[in-house]
Amino acid sequence: MAIPRQRIRLPQGAWRSAFMSLLRGDLWEGSQIEEFERDFASYISVEDAVTVPSGRAGFRFLFDSLGIEPGGEVICSAFGYPVVPFIVKSMGYDLKFVDCEMDTLGMDPKLLAQVCSDRTQAVIATHLYGVPCQIEEIADICASHNVKLIEDCAHCYGASLGSKKVGSFGAAGCFSFETSKVINTMGGGMVTLSDAEAGKRLRQFAAQEPHNNFKWLARRLSRTSFEAAVTNPLLFNMGVYQMLRLASSKAGEEDRFASGYQGDEVSLAGKMGRYTNYQARLGLRQVKTIERRNLRRTSNAERLIRQLDGKIPLQKPQSTENGSYANFMLVTVLASKLKQLAAALLSKGIDTKHLYMRDCSRMFDGEKAFPNAARAEREVLHLPAFPEMSDSQIDRVASAVSDAIVEVGLQADAD
Ligand SMILES: Cc1ncc(COP(=O)(O)O)c(C=O)c1O
Repeated sequence: MAIPRQRIRLPQGAWRSAFMSLLRGDLWEGSQIEEFERDFASYISVEDAVTVPSGRAGFRFLFDSLGIEPGGEVICSAFGYPVVPFIVKSMGYDLKFVDCEMDTLGMDPKLLAQVCSDRTQAVIATHLYGVPCQIEEIADICASHNVKLIEDCAHCYGASLGSKKVGSFGAAGCFSFETSKVINTMGGGMVTLSDAEAGKRLRQFAAQEPHNNFKWLARRLSRTSFEAAVTNPLLFNMGVYQMLRLASSKAGEEDRFASGYQGDEVSLAGKMGRYTNYQARLGLRQVKTIERRNLRRTSNAERLIRQLDGKIPLQKPQSTENGSYANFMLVTVLASKLKQLAAALLSKGIDTKHLYMRDCSRMFDGEKAFPNAARAEREVLHLPAFPEMSDSQIDRVASAVSDAIVEVGLQADAD
């Protein structure tokens, strides 16, 4: 049986909950929103948490809520999700990039220290694929310049460094609940805030959003059901895998199956509209079982990483005195011959994911090159290690990757 790159699940009881909420009349508004926000704030250990229409909408509301003045300098990691710097730029801020480092793939604090100045108003540090970036060092630099630190925690629900959860290191943290994320409420997001006043302002912005409608609900439910179907291992093996193989045999077509950011995703279209009570109910249900799922996800990832360590470069959490916890939303390797490795793995029944994050600097006509971000965009490949996989499936992925490294001639990458 072939293994899909990721397993997207329809949130438990999604259709039934929609129907029941419709009957009860609490689809759009109700007490679940407040309960979800309260639980979330207490779990991350922050003053406040506010539900938002999407992760990207959260960023947009945040800049106004934190009082970041138009024209002010905002620094992003060059390697990340392009929508975030696009929002920064579209709001009239002076956008600057800092390169990533190659262990966590997050912003390099040493390079940040060279760029951060008294002109800087905010730094956005992204924790990629469930692995915390070097956030303690980044937070120290921000504090020494009195700069607001915003964490992009879209992938990182539950990840921590020492006793602190990501989303609690700076002024704010932005989480996404899109379908491929650790908490999936078929869209939406949460912003965590260390200052209660900023939380109040953000809540006012979020409350100005118009309510969603039934068409939106039907679209979200059917799209998520479709994603769940094509990544369901059984259905994946009954057509999707064969289609991927066919496409990969045609030169130049494989990027159609790159998963993640597409050029037309820059906009906020379809990503606005007030977060619903129905979604909060789905979220509350998931946070009850998330620790168990995250543990399984992490143990699968660690089992795979243990077997590949030394054979191929891997994204790795920072080793700190107080320890760190990565949720490993995705397991990430770097391959100089990415396409060949992906094709070799696909022929062995292992589907992979690539081109999710980008070297964002290239999209803004920047003159400066960011070599690590450019390399990460070219080489990052995600292997399947989702919680539903068994130990023997993980071992199969490890052995397929080990064989493919030799077949493709990637042994030198590990040095
Ligand atoms: C790192 C990162 N930041 C922000 C976002 C935006 O989140 P949303 O799609 O909920 O707007 C994403 C979405 O995938 C992401 O991967």
